[in-house]
Amino acid sequence: MSSDLIQSLQGMSDIDYPEVSDWQRIEQIARHIFSLYFFTEIRTPILERTEVFTRSIGNTTDIVQKEMYTFQDRGGRSLTMRPEGTAGVVRYLATKGQEAGSTRLYYIGPMFRAERPQAGRKRQFHQCGVEMVGEPNPLADAECMALQLHLLEAWGLGGCVLRVNTRGASDELPQVGAKLRECLAQHSDHLCDDCRRRMDQNVFRVLDCKNPDCAKIVEQLPMITDLISPDSREYFEEVIGALDMLGVAYTHSPRLVRGLDYYNHTIWEISHSSLGAQDALAGGGRYTIAAGKKSISGVGFAMGLERVLMALSAGERVSTGESPLRAWLISLGDVARRSNFAMMQMLRSNGVDCCMDMSGRSMKSQMRSANQARAKFVVIRGGDEIERGVCVLKDMKSGEQVELGEDKVLSRLMQA
Ligand code: HAM
Repeated sequence: MSSDLIQSLQGMSDIDYPEVSDWQRIEQIARHIFSLYFFTEIRTPILERTEVFTRSIGNTTDIVQKEMYTFQDRGGRSLTMRPEGTAGVVRYLATKGQEAGSTRLYYIGPMFRAERPQAGRKRQFHQCGVEMVGEPNPLADAECMALQLHLLEAWGLGGCVLRVNTRGASDELPQVGAKLRECLAQHSDHLCDDCRRRMDQNVFRVLDCKNPDCAKIVEQLPMITDLISPDSREYFEEVIGALDMLGVAYTHSPRLVRGLDYYNHTIWEISHSSLGAQDALAGGGRYTIAAGKKSISGVGFAMGLERVLMALSAGERVSTGESPLRAWLISLGDVARRSNFAMMQMLRSNGVDCCMDMSGRSMKSQMRSANQARAKFVVIRGGDEIERGVCVLKDMKSGEQVELGEDKVLSRLMQA
């Protein structure tokens, strides 16, 4: 195989030890926090029909226009590798009856976007998110944000900044868009090419253009809260009131729009100082998505786990790859090897994690394996030890070595 063929694809990484223990830790904490809020896990397929995404995320969004991994299967159907979790969860919920009306689901898994890879921007990345189905309710929106910040705190990421805004109810979006277009028309000569195109296709996206000239024009636009109906404004005020009630710190960010079309009412983003200004740690919002004959409303969020781990490692709050293994069994000779093989099973059955070299290599090679596995202890036995019914137990950190009866090994390792 040429060396190119053994590399993973650009923007898609193998996650191995010790980094994988950080992933396991944050996933475990997430599952615990989600259970406190009565969320259960959903695992939807990675491949879906392309329309599942185009119809919900929106044809004019960057994700649909430039970033989806889409291909035809052998039957000529257009399939897409999920670029995010919400659309698939909504597709799943549409298959359910009444019980879908009050579902609280979470997911943790890989998503795929063909973006230009860089730090914190991958082509296969991982999201941890929730979807809470139900008609618009300001308390649900606030609960969702509180849960998200609770989880970030539990991971050790205090000091996150929550920026909140509203887009108004779904049926107001065309009128808000028309008003924004009207205000922007007089400045169109000074907008970047992308924004001139966005004015027709998806005017909301002009609001978060990073081009400094566009940003100056956007500053002069009315706030979305000034363009929506009094009912929607009241809804947003109730969300803010509920956040205050829960003691959740936020800033109202009147130009925040988010990059997916399914949102209405409340939208938000969370950032952390250790990531660059462009990289949101997480985002969420309320949405309405048509799925088959149904239209499903809900609120949810997703966090990019690569970015969470980057933010954690910036503060050195990630575990340092604690020793993964309690004991490595070392055998001198064939009799000891067979005897250790049986002891290994006995130890494992009693909850002691351990391993050994099966191939009868030298003592030096076996010690090397124990070191590579970062075992806390090695248990050494040769013919002499087997005859006397003892083992040598070596503490790999202190180097201390003791001889103890075979029957004492289990209890000693269980305490380790
Ligand atoms: P999103 O803002 O597109 O929202 O993605 C959420 C998070 O996924 C981002 O804040 C970021 O941390 C991470 N992310 C996105 N793209 C990449 C990438 N290429 N590499 C690494 N991380 C990335 C959604 O996906 C919505 N489905 C969130 C949602 C759920 N809204 C309601 N429910």
